[in-house]
Amino acid sequence: MQRLTRKLKAQGVQFGFVPTMGYLHAGHISLVKRARQLVGKTGQVVVSIYVNPTQFAPTEDLSKYPRDLAQDKQMCRDAGVDILFVPSDTEMYPAEFSTYVVEEKLSRRMEGASRPTHFRGVTSVVAKLFNIVLPDVSVFGAKDFQQAAVIQRMVRDLHFPVKVVVAPTHRERDGLAMSSRNKYLNPMQRDQATVLWLAMELARKQVKSRSVAVERLRSEISKLIATQSEARLDYVEFFDRETLEPVEMVKRGTQMALAVFVGKTRLIDNGTL
Ligand code: PAF
Repeated sequence: MQRLTRKLKAQGVQFGFVPTMGYLHAGHISLVKRARQLVGKTGQVVVSIYVNPTQFAPTEDLSKYPRDLAQDKQMCRDAGVDILFVPSDTEMYPAEFSTYVVEEKLSRRMEGASRPTHFRGVTSVVAKLFNIVLPDVSVFGAKDFQQAAVIQRMVRDLHFPVKVVVAPTHRERDGLAMSSRNKYLNPMQRDQATVLWLAMELARKQVKSRSVAVERLRSEISKLIATQSEARLDYVEFFDRETLEPVEMVKRGTQMALAVFVGKTRLIDNGTL
């Protein structure tokens, strides 16, 4: 992969990169389209598919994470992807692997608090993928808002010569953010999973014309989530879009992020209020 990029880059070809864990859906394809726009017809769009073990805790869903390489390949072909990079575990993590990249600030709260080893795995694998693929630009989904912020910080702090672009969340008609994990939901859970979107709509309505104290909003959202028998709130946070610092008063423009277990499936979403 690296040899190929270096060869084409020497000829002035631009590389756009979309790292994924596969089981692709329309959300991923929207990132591919963005990458194509950014590098143009003469550029190369690279998609990687790698279910990265180091970003899963031992108790999480690594072994049952959904996979369908044949379908992913077809979707990449249809979307005009030039290069599909599918490394193996032994290539990515050879024996005696012992170097990690750790972001120490933005990665602490929210997903980092609920999944303490998660971002260390994400930053490490993305740093590795950037070094292998050598992209000029890489596109990440806004659905993983904190992940995108952590990657942007890593790129800045470690001087990766990559432009990071964050593309909007792709949603189902009823507001549910597209995610490979939606596949785990049974029909009743799928129905109830819209509660994440409804929680954001509730918050948007509340802060439309005034500021609201975090605790008040958090309690209303907890109540809303509790109306769904399969749903259990993990966290809901209100914070500044740029710094990710939590706010005390929530107003228009504040960022909201939440994680909710629906059955055993943990879903996340976020949006600007
Ligand atoms: O967002 C994802 O799918 C993963 O965290 C990523 C960026 C591909 C790293 O494994």
